[in-house]
Amino acid sequence: MKKSTISDPFEDARNQTGYRDMDDQDDSVSMILRHKDVRKSAHDWKTFQSGAKPGRIVVPSEVHIRTLRQIPFELDPPEHTGFRNLVEPWFKRPLEKEYQAKLKPIIESEIDQAIAKGTVEVVHDFSLPLQSRALTVLLNMPEEEAELWIGWGTHVFRSEGDPLDSDKASGLAEYLDMKVEELKKNPGEDLFSVLLGSEVDGKKLTDDEVKGVLMLTFAGGRDTVINTLTNTIAYLADHPESIEKLRNEPETIEMAIEELVRYFSPLTHMGRVATADTTVCEHAIKKDTRASLCWASANRDEKVFERPNEVILDRKMNPHVGFGFGAHNCLGATHARTIMKIFIGLLVEKIQSMEILDCEDNIENLDGLERKVGFHKIHVKFNQRK
Ligand code: HEM
Repeated sequence: MKKSTISDPFEDARNQTGYRDMDDQDDSVSMILRHKDVRKSAHDWKTFQSGAKPGRIVVPSEVHIRTLRQIPFELDPPEHTGFRNLVEPWFKRPLEKEYQAKLKPIIESEIDQAIAKGTVEVVHDFSLPLQSRALTVLLNMPEEEAELWIGWGTHVFRSEGDPLDSDKASGLAEYLDMKVEELKKNPGEDLFSVLLGSEVDGKKLTDDEVKGVLMLTFAGGRDTVINTLTNTIAYLADHPESIEKLRNEPETIEMAIEELVRYFSPLTHMGRVATADTTVCEHAIKKDTRASLCWASANRDEKVFERPNEVILDRKMNPHVGFGFGAHNCLGATHARTIMKIFIGLLVEKIQSMEILDCEDNIENLDGLERKVGFHKIHVKFNQRK
């Protein structure tokens, strides 16, 4: 099996029953596995609520490590709509030429450094710094700020061997407190300052609401982007013919990004809390219990995707849910897609091939099922194009 392969552990359960129960810290979760049911349930926010106790919809649950509500993620309409409308234009800025012109040198410099070094541990010495430096463009903060964020590692709530690291969570909370105080006194043109001066439904945002938006931006856009970059490098190292295809047919890069996000599904699933007794696939889900929308399983549903376990870079019909579906679809998707477009375009121009020297898989444990989401470490040799 190639090192970049990401298998589908949900196939049997998806075909047999369409759901799977798992335990998470003594609070059960019914995982919804079929594409049609995932989309239907994501759409039905009245029955499958996001605005439960902060941290409860995340799997593993973060109720024990944070009380701050992440916004707009842990709100339901109509509250969700006001906040989403406020922040959406900010998160669409990556479509602008000026934004892309700021992002390109950051990405190019990471690629050039990797080529100059020859061999690189991609997770910590390529994808993490690239993700953090690119985030300064999204937040409109000085690039030097990224040095601190790089020090936080690949996940803001997890550390190696601890999926819920409360020290890390409080470190991020302290940073957000400090920034809010600093930028209240001396506002700039960054996202913190803009939100501190904004209103939703005629009311100024509270400090906690500002911190709730920023915490989500730091958490949601971190390991997802790091895994997407790292898994793409691993995939291209394993499939040199794809490097050539993307170089010779750059018009396929956008389709390739969608296909890679479908195949990698960087966010395996996200929970909801049932507001009433309901059923999915004849499976009873009781009021106030948790369900999860399993994007990773839906993205391999053979009823929707032909040859679902293959990467078909120019796949035509690709209704994947890697960036979610419905009211909460990913706000950071435009930023992530823009990073990937610049990254792939530059990489295939600059390298001839890449070789994976050694690697350690990053496996998520889902109460009896294991799913690879990426790598803890991966050493890759970058061979420059002559
Ligand atoms: C929501 C995936 C990058 C911020 C989501 C959801 C998914 C997702 C599946 C839906 C969650 C749900 O319905 O409960 C991804 C993937 C990414 C990525 C695969 C990278 C490849 C980012 C980035 C940011 C971000 C870079 C920001 C820096 C958000 C936010 C939401 C969200 C704020 C919640 C939107 C709302 O509730 O209205 N993401 N994400 N994401 N993502 Fe991302």
